[in-house]
Amino acid sequence: MQIHHTISSLREALANAGRIAFAPTMGNLHPGHASLMQEARQRADTVVASIFVNRLQFGPRDDFDCYPRTFEADCATLTAVGVDHLFAPDENELYPVPQQYFVQPPQAQDMILEGAFRPGHFRGVATVVTKLFNIVRPDIACFGKKDYQQLMVIRNMVHELAMPIEIVGCETVRADDGLALSSRNGYLSPDERREAARLHAELKTIVEAVRNGNRNYRTLEKLAEERLLKSGWEPDYVVVRNQIDLQPPQDDQALVVLGAAKLGATRLIDNLEI
Ligand code: PAJ
Repeated sequence: MQIHHTISSLREALANAGRIAFAPTMGNLHPGHASLMQEARQRADTVVASIFVNRLQFGPRDDFDCYPRTFEADCATLTAVGVDHLFAPDENELYPVPQQYFVQPPQAQDMILEGAFRPGHFRGVATVVTKLFNIVRPDIACFGKKDYQQLMVIRNMVHELAMPIEIVGCETVRADDGLALSSRNGYLSPDERREAARLHAELKTIVEAVRNGNRNYRTLEKLAEERLLKSGWEPDYVVVRNQIDLQPPQDDQALVVLGAAKLGATRLIDNLEI
C-alpha cells in the first residue's frame, strides 16, 4: 500500500488508476471500516482509503482532541484488506487556510436527529467529503449504514450537486452481542460495555413490532426510551423515520429506526432498517 500525505502525491499516483473506489475514515479502524474496504475492493481496479480526523465536523464540546489516533495499526489493517493507496493528510495539507467555503445540507436534513445534538456536524462532513471527492475523484465511494444520517446526506448531496460518483451503503458490522462496532466503544468501561448492546436490542424490539403490524410509532419509541432510562442510559432519541430523508413516516415508505443515547460519558448511535 502506498501512503500519501500530500494531495499532489496522491493525484500523481492515481493518474492511470482505472476505476477508483474510495472509503473515507477518521482512522482507529475496526472490522466495520475493513468491511467498507472489502466492498470497495470488489467494485474497482484501485482502492483508496483516507484517514483524516476532520476538525470541521466536531463541535466545541466533542472529542476532537482525544479522538483515538492509531496510525500504525490502521496501516496494517488497510494493507491486509488490499487497499492500494492511503491518503493521510495533516491539517495544513487539507486546510492550508481556514476553510471559508462550505457545503451546507438543507436544514430539514441537517438540523434533525444527530444534527440537532451536534450543530454544524453535517456541514463539516459534507464539506470534507466534497473536498476528498475532488482530490480522489472516485467512481464509487463506500459509506457505512452505521452512520445512517451521514449516508443519507452524502447520497442527497451527490445527487443534487450532480457529482459523478456512485454511493454504496454498507451494512453495519456488529459485535456478537449486537453492539455496532465504533471507535467510540473504546471509551466504555467493562460494565458499560456489557450494558451497551441494549441500544441495539431496543431497536430490534421496535423493528419486530413494526414488522408484526404495530404502527403506533410514538408509543414504541417512548417505551424504548423509558426502558433505556431505567437501565441508566440518557436517551437523546429513539425514532422511526422514512429511509430517504429521515422525516416521520407517511404511507408505505421504507422505514428505519434510529437511536442515540449516552451511557456514562459515551454517546452511542445505532439504527436498523425495517
Ligand atoms: P468514521 O467514523 O471513521 O467512519 C468511516 C466510515 O466507516 C463511515 O462510512 C462509517 O459509517 C463506517 N463505519 C463505522 N462503523 C461501522 C460499522 N460498525 N459497520 C460498518 N461501517 C462502519 O464517518 C466518518 O468517519 C467521517 O464522518 C468521514 C465520512 C470520514 C468524514 O470525515
